[in-house]
Amino acid sequence: MATIASETVQDNQARLPEGWREEVDASVRWPVTAFIASGAFWLVIGSVLALIASFKFNHPEWLVEQGWLTFGRVRPAHLQTMIFGWISMAGFGVLTWLWARLLKTDMRLGWLQLVSVAVWNLAMVVGTIAILAGFSRSIEWVEFPLFVYVIIIGCIGIGAFPLFEMLRRRRVRHLYVSIWYIGAALLWGPFLLITFSLPIYEGVAHATANWWFAHNILGLWITPVGLAAAYYFIPKVIGRPIYSYHLSILGFWTLALFYNWAGVHHLVGGPAPQWAVTISIVFSVMMVIPVVVVALNHHMTAFGSLKAVLRSPTLRFIVFGAMSYTAVSLHGSFMSLRFWQELTHFTHHTIGHAHLGVYAFATMVMFGSIYYIMPRLMQWEWRSSGLINLHFWTTALGIGTYVVALTIAGVLQGLTLMDPGASFMESQFITEPWLYARSIGGTLMTVGHLVFGYLLYSIILKKGPQLDGPTYFAPVLRSETSSADSAA
Ligand code: HEM
Ligand code: HEM
Repeated sequence: MATIASETVQDNQARLPEGWREEVDASVRWPVTAFIASGAFWLVIGSVLALIASFKFNHPEWLVEQGWLTFGRVRPAHLQTMIFGWISMAGFGVLTWLWARLLKTDMRLGWLQLVSVAVWNLAMVVGTIAILAGFSRSIEWVEFPLFVYVIIIGCIGIGAFPLFEMLRRRRVRHLYVSIWYIGAALLWGPFLLITFSLPIYEGVAHATANWWFAHNILGLWITPVGLAAAYYFIPKVIGRPIYSYHLSILGFWTLALFYNWAGVHHLVGGPAPQWAVTISIVFSVMMVIPVVVVALNHHMTAFGSLKAVLRSPTLRFIVFGAMSYTAVSLHGSFMSLRFWQELTHFTHHTIGHAHLGVYAFATMVMFGSIYYIMPRLMQWEWRSSGLINLHFWTTALGIGTYVVALTIAGVLQGLTLMDPGASFMESQFITEPWLYARSIGGTLMTVGHLVFGYLLYSIILKKGPQLDGPTYFAPVLRSETSSADSAA
């Protein structure tokens, strides 16, 4: 495998002009920065909404007089700002940079991406205000008014166009697996949004299509971008090729073939046809194949590089994210089984799983990627490794507390709900301490997000001291610094 990778590298390097990295980075500098900064903005907004929702579980009477801050509005506003604001916009910035670097090709139509980011932000503002003002569509995962999704689909299309134009002019023959994942996500994402926006579903078919959509937005839009980043940064920062190129292709195709069938596992015990639910459970379990393949590939690549993981901000976040990907997916396969659904469906257990996926995996991978990308784009270093460390520990401990607390709370809640001798209120009271723990975890995460926002603001405006080397957690000897790790 290493032979294939190195042959391809030699084949590609021969035709590359001197200084191609700087040329490529300069061409995507402002579009990528605009996407990442917008994502960070929505992360902070989404965190405030999340904290309000979380505190309401501790003090249900809090803010009930303000209609626009009631749970039924704040929760969907949190979900939408995080999924279509933070993770999708930051993801678009990260995928654009990876695309340019991996194709070793400059972007000529960057202005189209700037238009995309501006209009996308406007749509997000309108959509979020609409939900808070009470104009939600009340359809899970698509709560914004319909026209907002039409605009977002247009923005993804306009943002993707310059990328496909680069693909046509690419300077490499071989397409690394990250390009496969990103290219597929750019086709799957709009396809999902368009298909579910059509006004052709009713009743049970609507519920089935709803969960097909929501599950695939996670698995075929958010997940591929996270995996593409992990596939790029783990070998890049460690400085060795991916363990097995063949395994990575197997992982890609099994994800592409299996994920799409699993969405109806959200309706186990619901009014969907049982054959559809059973098929979805079978495919949920078959997902073990791509997940183990990806885990093996990442693990074997990182094996023996603990020092690099400890000292590099990028690796620390991304390895945390990659491990969480394995955990959430294996947990998901187990969770789709009927006996476990009986116990945990409609409980906080699902919310724990949800954040293990969207936060511990996808969000942490985004943080790690941004720590690598921004210094190269801005030609400026992060202002303080201490603040990055603070960001890592507040978010890692915060999400750890969040997931552990809700995983336990959900099981206790489910057991009490299934106990004919227990009242409904008992099933709520038993979760109380765990919901306080979630609020503490969420507060820690929000502190981390503010620190991250400050670091991002500082590097974009080139505030703070200009350091003479990359920001590491631990001192590194000059001889140890690989070219992959240096900021230039
Ligand atoms: C093999 C992979 C996976 C399987 C089989 C799986 C399975 C499941 C199941 C069965 C549920 C429904 C639980 C219920 O309603 O009781 C669920 C919910 C959820 N999963 Fe996963 N999961 C997987 C991977 C992921 C990943 C990678 C992410 C994030 C990137 C994720 C995020 C979520 C979210 C956000 C929900 C909650 C959706 C909602 O109720 O609004 N999952 N998953
Ligand atoms: C500050 C950190 C966060 C806190 C405190 C938090 C809190 C919450 C709360 C309280 C809920 C409602 C739970 C319920 O209905 O029982 C929720 C739902 C949700 N959040 Fe977060 N969240 C945070 C970060 C994130 C991030 C970064 C994302 C996405 C990237 C995200 C995605 C979601 C999703 C998809 C749901 C719906 C889950 C489901 O229905 O199963 N959250 N969150």
